[in-house]
Amino acid sequence: MKSAVILISGRGSNMRAIVEAKTGLEVRAVVSNRPEAAGLAWAAGRGIPTRVVDHRAHGTREAFDGKLALEIEALRPDIILMAGFMRVLGEGFVRRFERRMLNIHPSLLPAFPGLHTHRRALEAGVKLHGATVHYVTAALDNGPIVVQGAVPVLAGDTEESLAARVLAVEHRIYPQAVRWLVEDRIEFAPGGVVQVRRSGVSTDWMVSPRNIE
Ligand code: GRF
Repeated sequence: MKSAVILISGRGSNMRAIVEAKTGLEVRAVVSNRPEAAGLAWAAGRGIPTRVVDHRAHGTREAFDGKLALEIEALRPDIILMAGFMRVLGEGFVRRFERRMLNIHPSLLPAFPGLHTHRRALEAGVKLHGATVHYVTAALDNGPIVVQGAVPVLAGDTEESLAARVLAVEHRIYPQAVRWLVEDRIEFAPGGVVQVRRSGVSTDWMVSPRNIE
């Protein structure tokens, strides 16, 4: 069985989607950098241990990263899942957990790394938008891509309507990536790109009628 620590900062709906998907993943704890994160109460209500490493209580990024790394290492997870975790982690931290840390980002990377992705997608006039689950590397929102889900951008979309359409896809692709991890089907091809080994049934995720809302 694979074990994980899930990192959140707020609502925690991706964490919830992962837990509710019943992938066989053992969630050792949910850790937030904000004590008020709503996702903490939800996790605690499900009997999942919770921890807070408050970034405001740590003077420097290095001090925060160091404390977070200690908390995580004490839990000895196989993997770390960033799910709406809104802190950039330093290179030292990322190297410590290299190839063991996934993130979900609300755009079709490499388009729109960083913040305000839905607003920027609308401004750019793209016709397809979406979300990406990727390994975390020291470069922001730039690691090897595991899975993406696409949605159309519709006439009349606002930042909110587009965000909601993308979020529904996030809730499908993150549990999918976790399932592949649990099944040990993710491998790094030479050159660093991720490939998912097929089982009898193809579960490769790509732009197709079934994931365009
Ligand atoms: C999601 O859109 C995630 O992709 C982004 O922040 C949002 C967090 O939502 N990084 P939640 O906390 O998982 O509900």
